[in-house]
Amino acid sequence: MILLKIGGSVLTDKARASTVRKDKLRMVARQIADAKRSSLVLVHGAGSFGHPQAATYLSKGLSASGLWKTHRAVCSLNTKFLNELHSQSVPALPIHPLDSVALDAGRIVHFDTTALDLMLENNIIPVLHGDIVMDSADGFNILSGDQIIGFLARRMRPEKIGMGTDVDGIMYKGGKIGHLNASEFEKYRKEIVGSSVIDVTGGMLRKVSELLDIAKSGIQSEIFNATRDGNVAKFLMSHQEVGTTISMGAK
Ligand SMILES: Nc1ncnc2c1ncn2[C@@H]1O[C@H](COP(=O)(O)OP(=O)(O)O)[C@@H](O)[C@H]1O
Ligand SMILES: [Mg+2]
Repeated sequence: MILLKIGGSVLTDKARASTVRKDKLRMVARQIADAKRSSLVLVHGAGSFGHPQAATYLSKGLSASGLWKTHRAVCSLNTKFLNELHSQSVPALPIHPLDSVALDAGRIVHFDTTALDLMLENNIIPVLHGDIVMDSADGFNILSGDQIIGFLARRMRPEKIGMGTDVDGIMYKGGKIGHLNASEFEKYRKEIVGSSVIDVTGGMLRKVSELLDIAKSGIQSEIFNATRDGNVAKFLMSHQEVGTTISMGAK
């Protein structure tokens, strides 16, 4: 099983509310179609179909109307992605975390993966997304695509995990780091920050923390640039490294 996240930074223009990058959507879908992988779970971020809405409608706390507007936005991106996948004959179906996940103080305490498991059994690719989710401590919280990857990694122990984003990997002093483990993280962390654009879920720093956490249980992952044509295909079909590998060992 392979877990692949496509960042909101890839599929959307994060600087402009509800703006899809159609060419990237098509390019990513084409590579997924070409790979012809079953046993694949896709997760996508919300990008400008969620972050600006959450910042506008949910900054004052829980409101059903704000939750709906945010959920509706990210669902519309999910639908666009699904339509593109289907137009390229990829057998995929959506899963909306609002319906199947519950949080407690931002942490996943319940995640009903029954439908997801059945989709995989039937060679259907589940497509999840960052979402607003009900939370027993806080009323609601934002569940990032990165957190979903972390949870599914622990639950399903995939053979590999890819985090497609809009940078070549983790950058330090202008260059890409090939490999990161916990001790190297200490060295690099002052340059690993949030996002250059609006990202209510913590940008690169939270992403790396999530991935280091799963690395501790022996699961390796890779952050790579999914805006460049060919990288998603390379990740899905070869053993070639395309970005920054995160694991516990030394290189
Ligand atoms: N050291 C770093 N290396 C690479 N990217 C970084 C680093 N520090 C912060 N970032 C930011 O993290 C962004 C990627 O995270 P994010 O915007 O959350 O993407 P996504 O939508 O794919 O989750 C990059 O575009 C960059 O602005
Ligand atoms: Mg992000």
